[in-house]
Amino acid sequence: MKERMPCAIITTPSLMMVLFCQNESIILFLQGQRGFLLYFNDESEEMDINKTPIIVGNDHAAYGLKEKIKSYLIEKDIDVEDAGTHNEDSVDYSDFGIRVAAEVSTGKFNRGILLCGTGIGMSMVANKFSHVRAALCSGLFSAIMSRRHNNSNILVIGARVTGSDLAMEIVSAWLSTPFDGGRHQLRIEKFDSLGEAPK
Ligand code: RB5
Repeated sequence: MKERMPCAIITTPSLMMVLFCQNESIILFLQGQRGFLLYFNDESEEMDINKTPIIVGNDHAAYGLKEKIKSYLIEKDIDVEDAGTHNEDSVDYSDFGIRVAAEVSTGKFNRGILLCGTGIGMSMVANKFSHVRAALCSGLFSAIMSRRHNNSNILVIGARVTGSDLAMEIVSAWLSTPFDGGRHQLRIEKFDSLGEAPK
């Protein structure tokens, strides 16, 4: 591995975050004597991206971001089903959230991505469906932990909240992070069947 120089060190009384940037992104959290590597994205090494097909849905506020994410997924050889909307004409986010969440709830798709202005509406819709675990993420830590601890199967991003470069990092990290299982599986089983079955 190449030697890297930190480009930022952020400290609070309980947390120190060291950010290395040299065409790579690495986030290392150190807490007291304990530290762990949370995320590492080295452009020169192929990341272990999960290639399971993905269904994506969005409203008008996130059409541009959806197109960008779709191109990225296609470039990574991931099959993408686009549930719309397909332009910036005003629509109801709920219609597209329902389409995507229903497909994930039945298991037709194992994973989905939902995008709207804030991400809030899409999260509300998606999490009404049984077996859907939608995570609204505006940062890498949430995206990674939503996979590791919550086995999130729908990633939600607010296109008016999160800049497109960060959004792409979030998508990449979400796709590359496996579920930890174990005690987290037992926790998920306590609520996973609650909610509506798709009509
Ligand atoms: C659309 O204006 C906006 O309400 C929608 O994109 C989303 O933010 C809803 O939660």
